[in-house]
Amino acid sequence: MNERLANQPPYPMVRLEEWRQEIAERGVQLYDFGTGDPREPTPALLRQAMIDAVPEVSQYPASVGVPALREAAAGYLQRRFGVEIDPATEVLPTFGSKEAIFHLPMTFVQIPGDGAASAKDTVVYGEPAYPVYEIGALFAGAKTHAVTLGVDNGYAMDPDGLPDSLLQRAAIVYLNYPHNPTGFLLAPKMYEKWVTARERFGFVLVSDECYVDLHYEGDAPRSLLEFGREGCLVLHSLSKRSGMTGYRSGFLAGDAKLVSTYRRFRASMGTTPQEFVQAAAAVAWTDTEHVEARRAVFVKKREVLLAALVERGLRVHGSTAGLYLWVEVPDDTTDTDYAARLREVGILVAPGSFFGEGQERFVRLALVPTVEECREVAAAWPRR
Ligand SMILES: Cc1ncc(COP(=O)(O)O)c(C=O)c1O
Repeated sequence: MNERLANQPPYPMVRLEEWRQEIAERGVQLYDFGTGDPREPTPALLRQAMIDAVPEVSQYPASVGVPALREAAAGYLQRRFGVEIDPATEVLPTFGSKEAIFHLPMTFVQIPGDGAASAKDTVVYGEPAYPVYEIGALFAGAKTHAVTLGVDNGYAMDPDGLPDSLLQRAAIVYLNYPHNPTGFLLAPKMYEKWVTARERFGFVLVSDECYVDLHYEGDAPRSLLEFGREGCLVLHSLSKRSGMTGYRSGFLAGDAKLVSTYRRFRASMGTTPQEFVQAAAAVAWTDTEHVEARRAVFVKKREVLLAALVERGLRVHGSTAGLYLWVEVPDDTTDTDYAARLREVGILVAPGSFFGEGQERFVRLALVPTVEECREVAAAWPRR
């Protein structure tokens, strides 16, 4: 076994599966707020688009993706953020954003022993974080640096305060707003600071924007591409926005030079989404009605849960966008103890410590159960 695989600690979210089973064995109704995989049906329009596109003969897809999807992605970025992207050179379809995150370090990290011209060997990300930023970096042989984020500064990644020596060695810096797990946004001035820092230190600045269309309160989430292009990439996904987690479809866009480098890597790897999935994806990026309809469902779930949590005297931080509620646990308990207490009444949540160090005061609820189930949970939520 590859040492890097052997050294991987178990993915914390696998604990959720054990807890699901425990709840089932007790014969208690399960309310599963654990994993961010909503159960609302994929819109009929998108399912049909895929079915219609399944050809009699299906050949290898081109690694650069089908033009219709690249054009739809560019159209989406134009409408949503006012950003002009060349569909021929600045967009690349991916299998959702997870695999792109996993593979980016293999493309952009330079390991000194490999004869690299410079020592850009470190991947930087905020913590708590989606775990694949770290895992992808480790498999690429990179060093990792997790910047500890906290509730006091709204979980904001800020280049000020990071040593020059770190940014000098950074091959990739990840931003992720709306942030998983907290649902905080990043202020525009902070994006500007990152673009300036990138110009100075020359790392690849990657913004994971997979929750950007799920927004409930305050200013709409922004895209990094509104602030900079050179050295910048954004990752978008249909998983949460369009209810297409199982289709595995997203795209990467930004600096043409970086896109070209990444295309070169992907051509050897042979990972390009099936063309019939890409056809459905082109429809999904063009249509906004289904996104609004889905968002309205999350709005309702969020409303019902927020009212119940506040009524119980709990504080919810961030959570103005994305798919999650980031809930501070009562003073006399910890994330794991509180999660255990919730499981007694069938409510499954992810403890904050699953997402990084220093998050033991929080639990994360993914807005996955139905509105009706959220109403039941609102009634059943423990009073202390
Ligand atoms: C922050 C973040 N990035 C990326 C992903 C991966 O999403 P997908 O591969 O379905 O696009 C997730 C999934 O939960 C996520 O939370």
